[in-house]
Amino acid sequence: MLFGDCRRHLAELEAESIDLVVTDPPYNTGLRAGASRLHHFFDDAMDAGEYRALTREVSAQLFRVLKGNHAAYVFINWKSLGVWLDALAAAGFRLKNCVVWDKVLRLDYQNYAYAHEFLIFAVKGRFFPKNRGTGDDSFKDVWHVSRVTRRESAAVPHHETVRPLEVIRRPIEHASAPGDLVLDPFAGSGTTCVVAKELGRRYLGIERDAAYYRLCLRRLSDLQLAEATA
Ligand SMILES: C[S@@+](CC[C@H](N)C(=O)[O-])C[C@H]1O[C@@H](n2cnc3c(N)ncnc32)[C@H](O)[C@@H]1O
Repeated sequence: MLFGDCRRHLAELEAESIDLVVTDPPYNTGLRAGASRLHHFFDDAMDAGEYRALTREVSAQLFRVLKGNHAAYVFINWKSLGVWLDALAAAGFRLKNCVVWDKVLRLDYQNYAYAHEFLIFAVKGRFFPKNRGTGDDSFKDVWHVSRVTRRESAAVPHHETVRPLEVIRRPIEHASAPGDLVLDPFAGSGTTCVVAKELGRRYLGIERDAAYYRLCLRRLSDLQLAEATA
């Protein structure tokens, strides 16, 4: 795990050293840390130009550090989908698909309950995911995976946008092999790293928020302890 701004750390990584990228970047929701009922939320309010520059710089670095004929998966919402698609394409990625993640909510909300997110599937060179015969619905581009509810995640200090393990397991299983190095430059509470470790992959997470960084380290050491005492 690396602590700090991913733009600085990515620039220091060796070219073509990463086997898979799975990441969940800031969506630029306009929310600020502590300024809402979401007490654990990070600062996520940039002006449009600053956000576009971040997506361009990170996409270019991801393309540089990823090995040829390997894949990158990027979570995003509908508002920032276009910015990320443009940035990934400008960096050289081939945009292969955009999975709709149905969060299986049972809500009734005036502006249509916010029940989906996207997962951009992009490749450097030629790559085909191993998603056939996995026994779930991931051979299609609509995945039905329940989100982590507030009640579930409130049991431990948590991240407001923590991902369910299942929605991270799929890209890692489809697009890497045991021993491969999986990168998440916006690690949050470390879900990508935790799943990568569980699946026998190596991981590299980067997070700039000290509280989330500590949470990553704790989740990873809890996992190591559980594996050692199993
Ligand atoms: C959407 S959250 C990721 C949540 C994660 N998927 C999980 O399950 O916990 C995005 C994270 O990126 C971090 N972040 C934002 N900008 C960053 C940057 N420039 N460098 C490193 N981390 C950054 C935020 O602090 C936040 O924790």
